[in-house]
Amino acid sequence: MNISVILLAAGAGTRMRSHLPKVLQPLAGKPLIGHILETLNKIPSIEQCCVITGHERARVESFCEANKHDLTIQPVYQSEQLGTAHAVKQAIPYLPDEGVSLVLYADVPLLKVSTLEKLIALLKDHDLALLTQELDNPFGYGRILRDQTGVKSIVEEKDATDDERLITEVNTGILALPNRLLKHYLPLIDNNNQQREYYLTDLVGLMSQDSLGIETLQPESAMEVQGVNDKAQLATLERAFQYYQAEKLLHQGVTLADPLRFDLRGQLNVGKDVFIDVNCVFQGEVVLGNHVSIGPNCIIGEIGKTVIIEDYVEIKANSIVEAAEIGESSMIGPYARIRPDSKFAAHVKIGNFVETKKTSLGAGSKVNHLSYVGDAVIGEQVNIGAGTITCNYDGVNKFQTTIENGAFIGSNTSLVAPVTVAKNAVVGAGSTITREVKDNQLAIARGKQRNIDNWPKPEKK
Ligand code: UD1
Ligand code: MG
Repeated sequence: MNISVILLAAGAGTRMRSHLPKVLQPLAGKPLIGHILETLNKIPSIEQCCVITGHERARVESFCEANKHDLTIQPVYQSEQLGTAHAVKQAIPYLPDEGVSLVLYADVPLLKVSTLEKLIALLKDHDLALLTQELDNPFGYGRILRDQTGVKSIVEEKDATDDERLITEVNTGILALPNRLLKHYLPLIDNNNQQREYYLTDLVGLMSQDSLGIETLQPESAMEVQGVNDKAQLATLERAFQYYQAEKLLHQGVTLADPLRFDLRGQLNVGKDVFIDVNCVFQGEVVLGNHVSIGPNCIIGEIGKTVIIEDYVEIKANSIVEAAEIGESSMIGPYARIRPDSKFAAHVKIGNFVETKKTSLGAGSKVNHLSYVGDAVIGEQVNIGAGTITCNYDGVNKFQTTIENGAFIGSNTSLVAPVTVAKNAVVGAGSTITREVKDNQLAIARGKQRNIDNWPKPEKK
């Protein structure tokens, strides 16, 4: 079956009170509409996605184009928002006569692939497939009216009688039907209602009058059909989604100190016996090996980048790991900042208040305290003392520092790059190194100590 998606994204989203269009507001680090594009990418029979845009059309269209992956995006402009049927009507010129259409909303981000596939599958035996939901509080939604034979019509809250308002089965707005029927019935819809809008929901009444087969389906979880109109609903959905992700990880065997204090804004792939303490944020693509332990308040990963943390690594409290690779059994933090292009071999130790960037560290090397190591290639079993700084930047260009296997850098050393400290060399504490130190040499570059006897202390004035 060839599927065309009609994705409604024209609304202004006034209640967001934001310069950012509603459908670009982030949920779990990704714009609402981005979640849908990702889901649609997992359904290969989708031929095209007609995105109905209006408000902030250019931004919405360019986001879709940049994030379409394998989808074909057909932008469709709706200059005035005259109702959901009017929105869908704009896509008609782009729909083939064969195949089916699936109507989705850019502000309903968390639909599952399986739900959409089940909805489409209903069209094998029926003419219209509706996604509906039972709600304890159905206020504001269109209600599903049924008789003994099945669904008769949908009535909007504002048009409903008191009795109809008691109905708890609501319209989610999501539906699917053959293009042939959509093209026939859409022009028959008028705006003769309380809101003077063209209601897509009127399709249901029209099709049932003609005795066409209408079937309904309910989603697996309520979160799937939850729409977002304001920041409060966005926050509620964010927490629901984060809890859902946390539960998924628990089922994969991860120990989460508190699934209510866990945030994933991307992908997390985990090995066995992973422990994650409270208040951690994972971003982008993060891969954790077996027996990895992440302390409280850590930020791991960067949106659009990958972090790989190998087996038995321990990241201690309050550390930030951006796009980096951390070799097995390494220990990071507390309070470390591992910036992009940091690549550590096994058994590396990075201690508190250490920042690394574009730096490789060989097996067993240590930077334990208060250091900045950037643009550096560091060998194995190197010890970098407290307060060491690679002076990598002259204000215009960046330069590399090389420290070879077994070297020992004394505390409070400045390494003025480009510079090399060769194998097993030692740098005395407090040195400013500007020239190469060769294998096995000791370099000391600091003022000589003088001790002056009987030094008079200043007197109080
Ligand atoms: C709609 C349904 C209602 C359902 C509810 C579920 C209709 C008439 N009603 O009501 O039965 O319970 O969704 O949330 O369909 N949009 C456009 N262009 C338009 C109009 C709307 O792009 O001309 C977009 C809006 O930006 C919004 C979505 O479509 O994202 C829904 O439109 P809205 O008018 O808010 O529908 P509801 O009143 O919520
Ligand atoms: Mg409305």
